[in-house]
Amino acid sequence: MAADSANEPEGISRKSFMKAALVAAPIPLLLGATPLARAAVEKGEPLEPTPFCGDSGGNTPAQMEGPYFKPSSPLRSTLPGSGTLLTVSGYVFGVNCVPLANVLLDFWQADAYGNYDMQGYTFRGHQFTDSQGRYKLTTIVPGLYPGRTRHLHVKLQAPNKPILTTQTYFPGEPRNNTDSLYDSRLLMNVRANGSGREATFDFVLNVVGTPPTSPGPTPPPNSPSPTPTPPNSPPPGGGTWQAGTTYQAGATVTYGGSTYRCIQGHTALVGWEPPIVPALWQRI
Ligand SMILES: [Fe+2]
Repeated sequence: MAADSANEPEGISRKSFMKAALVAAPIPLLLGATPLARAAVEKGEPLEPTPFCGDSGGNTPAQMEGPYFKPSSPLRSTLPGSGTLLTVSGYVFGVNCVPLANVLLDFWQADAYGNYDMQGYTFRGHQFTDSQGRYKLTTIVPGLYPGRTRHLHVKLQAPNKPILTTQTYFPGEPRNNTDSLYDSRLLMNVRANGSGREATFDFVLNVVGTPPTSPGPTPPPNSPSPTPTPPNSPPPGGGTWQAGTTYQAGATVTYGGSTYRCIQGHTALVGWEPPIVPALWQRI
């Protein structure tokens, strides 16, 4: 099977590079990627300010479509077939850090043996982000084929906006070093989940999203005045970040001596510590 030809991807901003590096870093890591941010936290070293969507410039880099895309994939978020179970989840953001709803994500990939189904639609499917800008793909780990490292293909399109065609990659793959298309800015965060794999990746489209119009929570009428907050204390709702806790957007926690604000509601997991998941936590 012919390999995708090796075109260089488009130029990328420093923001995307830094974001990808952080996303690639969390532990427990599979296959030996370097835990950059977490290592710094554990050593008590200062961290660079966490870049996240809204940082200056940059969006998910484009990559070539390759020869195996087929239009009209089925609407489904689970791609059935035999292989090592893989889930990929995350958010699609606009460049202004607003999660984008109703974004089309059209995934296609090789089967466990490195073959693409060109007759049917095995391991092909499209879905849309939910109202919170989230997506989740359930599939298998794609096999290798000549000339390429392990990868997923995806096209994304916000409503009435241009299509972004790109690929995502797996950390620690030996062929990452020899595939000229490979781009570390497109590395997923991958960890073991039982006998399967669990990956996360956030896309940033060159689209300006519309911020939510609902006002923030306001105290009800006639409620007692809030207790003044002493200087230098954590914001209300603070506490030490803890795995297993469900956090709402706006909640604040402390971790590693720093304070973070939750920017997307979620249930915390080991490996999603605030310094290394800029899609979920903003350092304040
Ligand atoms: Fe491919």
